[in-house]
This record gives sequence, C-alpha cells and structure tokens, in this order.
Amino acid sequence: MNKYKIISFDEIDSTNCYALKNILELEDKTIILAKMQTKGRGRFDRVWLSNNQENIYTSLVLKPRFKNLSNTPLANLTQYMSLTICKTLESYGISPKIKWPNDVLVSKKKISGILAETSIKNNEFYGLVLGVGINLNLDQTDIKKIDQAATSLNLELGEKVNRDEFFKILLDTFFSEYDTFLMSGFKYIKSSYIKKCDFLGKEITIRNLQKELRGTVTNINDDGSLSLKVADNLSEIKILAGDIIC
Ligand code: BTN
Repeated sequence: MNKYKIISFDEIDSTNCYALKNILELEDKTIILAKMQTKGRGRFDRVWLSNNQENIYTSLVLKPRFKNLSNTPLANLTQYMSLTICKTLESYGISPKIKWPNDVLVSKKKISGILAETSIKNNEFYGLVLGVGINLNLDQTDIKKIDQAATSLNLELGEKVNRDEFFKILLDTFFSEYDTFLMSGFKYIKSSYIKKCDFLGKEITIRNLQKELRGTVTNINDDGSLSLKVADNLSEIKILAGDIIC
C-alpha cells in the first residue's frame, strides 16, 4: 500500500542515526527527512556532505513482516531504491546509470548514494533503515568539496529543482511496487536493473573486504550479486558486496 508518514527536521545529526535510535517507536514506512545533517554518513565510513537545504537527505524505516525473514530480499532493497532513483530522474528527462550495487550516476558522475543499516538485537529483527542522499541543487563550489566525481540534477537540467515535488515522485514510485518486490525479490527488477548497468562485459576493479580485485564482469545474478572473471587465473567469483572503484 502506498501509505507512508514523513517526519521532517530542519537540522539533525544524521537521518539514519535518528531512525536507528528510535527504531522501536517508529512505524513501518516512516520517512525521516532533513534539510541539513551535521553528521551525514556515507558507505565505508565516508562523510556525506549535507549542508544544502535543497537536497535530499532521507531515511526510510522499513519493517517488513514476513514469516521467513531469510527469504525477504532485504539486501536487495538498496538496488530497488537505486532503480527507483533512476526512474524518478528519468521523469525529468535525465538518463542515469547504476554503478553496482546502488550508486546512481549521470554522465559517469555520482548523483546519489544509499546507506542501508539493519537493526537487529538479540537475534530479533527490528527494521531496516534505508538512507538516501540525492544531489538536487548543488553549485560548483559544493561539487568541488565532494571527494569523487559528482553532479547534481539542477546542473544537468540547467535550472533549480523543486525538492518537494521530486521527493513525492521518489516515494510514490518506491512504494508503488515495494510489496511486490518484497515478495518476488531481485528477479522482479533484474532486467530493468541490468539495462541501467553499463559495466557488464567490461574490466573493472572492485574493492571487497579490504582487497582489490580486477576482472571482467560476466553477469548480474538472480540474487543481485555480481560475477567477476578474475584477470590472473580466469576463475569466476561471485561478489555479494563491494565498491567498484574504476
Ligand atoms: C554513499 O556513501 O554513497 C551513501 C550515502 C548515503 C547518505 C544518506 S543522506 C541520508 C542518510 N543519512 C546519513 O547519514 N546517510 C544517509
């Protein structure tokens, strides 16, 4: 069902931290939204610059209730969200790509990032927090402060973007197929996801568990993992998590 509740803040440390701290009280499909974050966090302990009021800094609190949680595609929710971000950007006439597993790029520059964190205590699953940062309205000074190639929707369009309008399309798109996705898993989005990936068949370097591997991407599998034919011994490795660095 397409019903969600939004809790908004002018300033907060991190929407993910707030969601995790209050996970017991927060209902399923509660959305934490902030205009600014003082301690925005990215993947691999990076800082997520969060000082622009017209960007999106949000966390979705998701508490799927399934009898068998291990069959629930929690790990793939970031990929489902990356596809949702692509669809939303496409509604603005932009052609984004996904850098596995969930970065969204426009003209090879990062426009959004996703940080998923699970809350489990004493073997009990309390919920998943899906943190999303999207560059909607940055200027060149902001862009220069980011430690990797980055862009923003306003720079791609040549005009300011209405944050509320973008956010509504994003959430409506996310929840329109969320229940079906939870029941069906990554296979449900596999073909659409693959269409957005331009590294299939290409040679890449991936950082995985402090190691760097170089090889050719041969497949995105039914579970959302990536198959890599490693350059030196031609063996094929299935990668479940990591970061494509070039
Ligand atoms: C990445 O490193 O690519 C992930 C960035 C995720 C940033 C978002 S902004 C909202 C939420 N709160 C945080 O502190 N981080 C995530």
